[in-house]
Amino acid sequence: MTHWATVIGTGAYLPEMIRTNHDLSEMVDTTDSWIFERTGIKSRHIAAADETAASMAEHASRQAIEMAAIDAQEIDLIIVATSTSERIYPSSACLLQQRLGIQKCVGFDIQAACSGAVYALSIADQYIKTGFAKTVLVVGSEICSRIVDWSDRSTCILFGDGAGAVLLSASDRPGILATHIHSDGGYEDLLYCPNPQVAAVAKQSEPGFIQMRGNEVFKVAVNTLGRIVDETLEASDLQQSDIDWLVPHQANMRIIAATAKKLGMDMDQVILTLEHQGNTSAASVLLAFNEGVRDGRIQRGQIVLIEAFGAGFTWGSVLLKY
Ligand code: UT7
Repeated sequence: MTHWATVIGTGAYLPEMIRTNHDLSEMVDTTDSWIFERTGIKSRHIAAADETAASMAEHASRQAIEMAAIDAQEIDLIIVATSTSERIYPSSACLLQQRLGIQKCVGFDIQAACSGAVYALSIADQYIKTGFAKTVLVVGSEICSRIVDWSDRSTCILFGDGAGAVLLSASDRPGILATHIHSDGGYEDLLYCPNPQVAAVAKQSEPGFIQMRGNEVFKVAVNTLGRIVDETLEASDLQQSDIDWLVPHQANMRIIAATAKKLGMDMDQVILTLEHQGNTSAASVLLAFNEGVRDGRIQRGQIVLIEAFGAGFTWGSVLLKY
C-alpha cells in the first residue's frame, strides 16, 4: 500500500548569540549597507562554544515532537542533513537518537551542502512510500561559523548557524506530492570546503574554510533554480498559481527574488528568514518552513514549494500539501 508522507510537526533552534553586519564591519573591510544591498542579510546567529550540530538538532527536534504530540519512540527513521557534524562518526543522526533516548530506530546523515534538507525530505518520502518507515524525523543542522574564515569578507558575511526539523508520518492524507533532486559534480572549484585532516597529503595545507567564487555561483544558482521550478510544475500537473508559498534556500535575496518572479509570485508569498539568519546551509529551508507554519501563514491544505541550491553543485525541490 502506498502512503503519503505528511507533515505532523516542525521545530527550530537558533543560537543565542547574534552577529550583526555592524559587528562584521569591525572585523573585515565591509559595511552594513554593502552586505544588506548585495545579500539581504542584516544579522546571523552564532553557536556557543559548547554547541554542536547534534545539540542544536535536539532542540529543534523536541519542538517538532511536541507539536506532533507523539512519543519520540514512534520515530523509526532519523535523517540529519549537515556538513558540520561534530564527529566524522558517529553521525549526527546517531548522536541525536541518543540525545532523544530513542531505542529502536535507524539514523544516518546526508551531506548535500545547502541542498541537504531537500535531499533528506526526498529520501524520507521514498522510505515512507515503500512502507519501510512510518514516522521520520528530518533535521537540517549547521554550525557554518566553524567552517567560515572570519577574515574573508567575501564569505564571512553570508553564513549563520541554526537547526530546523520536520516530522513526517505515513498517512492517507496527501503530504509530499513530488520531490526532484539533482547534482553535477563539475563545479567543485566554484564552491568547496576542504577537510584538511583527511585531505590528500599534498592538499593538507589548505585551511578547512569555505572557498567560494560567489559571483559565478550566483549565476548558476539563478539559472538552475529557474529550471527546477519548471520541472516541478511540469511533473505535478500544477500551475504557478496553485502554489501558495515558496520556501526557498536563504542564500541571497536577489536569487530568491529571481525564483519568485519566475513563479509569478509576490514576495509576500515567499517565506524569508535571510535578513536575521543569513545562510544556514542545510538548515535554512527547514527553519523557514517552521517559521511559516508557526506564525500561521502556511495553512493546512495549502501547497508549498521548497527549493535549494548548494555546493556540488546540488539542487532540488519538494512540493508538498501542508
Ligand atoms: O548557499 C550556497 C550557494 N551560495 C550562493 O548562492 C551565494 C551566491 N553568491 C552571492 O550571493 C553573491 O555573489 C555575493 C553576495 C557573495 C557577492 O555579491 P556580488 O554582487 O556577486 O559581488 P562580487 O563578488 O562580484 O564583488 C563585487 C565587489 C568586489 O570588488 P571589486 O573587485 O569590484 O573592486 C569585491 O571585492 O565587492 C567586493 N566585496 C565586498 N565589498 C564590501 C566582496 N565582498 C565584500 C564585502 N564588503 N563583504
